[in-house]
Amino acid sequence: DWKMDSFVEDTIKSLREKIGNGKVLCALSGGVDSSVAAVLLSKAVGKQLTCVFVDQGLLRKNEGDEVEAVFGPDGPYDLNFIRVNAQERFYQKLAGVVEPEAKRKIIGEEFIRVFEEEAKKIGAVDFLVQGTIYPDVIESGLGKSATIKSHHNVGGLPDYVDFKEIVEPLRLLFKDEVRKAGRELGIPEYLVSRQPFPGPGLGIRIVGEVTAEKVKIVQDADYIYREEIAKAGLDKGLGQYFAALTNMRSVGVMGDERTYDYAVALRAVCTSDFMTADCADIPFEVLQRVMTRIINEVKGVNRVMYDLTSKPPGTIEFE
Ligand code: XMP
Repeated sequence: DWKMDSFVEDTIKSLREKIGNGKVLCALSGGVDSSVAAVLLSKAVGKQLTCVFVDQGLLRKNEGDEVEAVFGPDGPYDLNFIRVNAQERFYQKLAGVVEPEAKRKIIGEEFIRVFEEEAKKIGAVDFLVQGTIYPDVIESGLGKSATIKSHHNVGGLPDYVDFKEIVEPLRLLFKDEVRKAGRELGIPEYLVSRQPFPGPGLGIRIVGEVTAEKVKIVQDADYIYREEIAKAGLDKGLGQYFAALTNMRSVGVMGDERTYDYAVALRAVCTSDFMTADCADIPFEVLQRVMTRIINEVKGVNRVMYDLTSKPPGTIEFE
């Protein structure tokens, strides 16, 4: 693969030349793209780079700490890392909001506001890093998907931050090439091989109003699901798999008690491009094991359902 043979080395060299002794700012989500972009910049210019990681309270279980372990002061890379714990702020903004596009808009705008505040503290920067990859370039060119759901993390940011130029070191790479570069750079496998996770996070996997209590439920259920999928050796073969929290509560019975609790929906899809997807054929005994564990271990859930819908007509996410 001619493109990848010397990609890491060449990119670090050209970034170093381009940036000189300029100041660089990166919005780090912990996703594959922004992680690889950040590490390339860190290798090129070290502490001239500041990464801002916003925990909006809509991340998967332990995710904030996992990102901090890699990019924070105890991690292997030379850079400035700022973690903003903005959970309460996001929950307040989302209180009482049920309409999916309204939720997406609030999460996107609040993210920009938090990021802008941090950028102001840092002062004028010369370069803003974006983890744009080749498919993003094509997609935004054709104006797809944005019409179906607003992808809050594509576009938008630059207007809000004082900077001179954008750097997009992954602009010519496909996803598998980004992962390859990530492995070469020594980024841990759990970050490099991560499944896609939407910008608005668990906010669009909780149907209806988002509350701290619901976030905890969906985090715990999703963690169990992912653990059992990995144990069964199914993780590599799936495009995306996660738990979502429906807005439905129903009657159940536990011991001698009547319960009135939430229903969790499990989703798993096989897909080549995320534009279309088929429901994955997860072995029934795996689904049953996940169901039993979720009911026993996650308070507030008394029913577990498996989503059979393909895309179209469904989408992969719930909102
Ligand atoms: P849907 O739900 O539209 O999702 O079938 C297709 C793929 O896109 C991801 N997705 C997003 N990614 N910001 C993102 O970065 C978003 O707002 C967003 N919405 C959906 C979704 O996880 C799936 O991989």
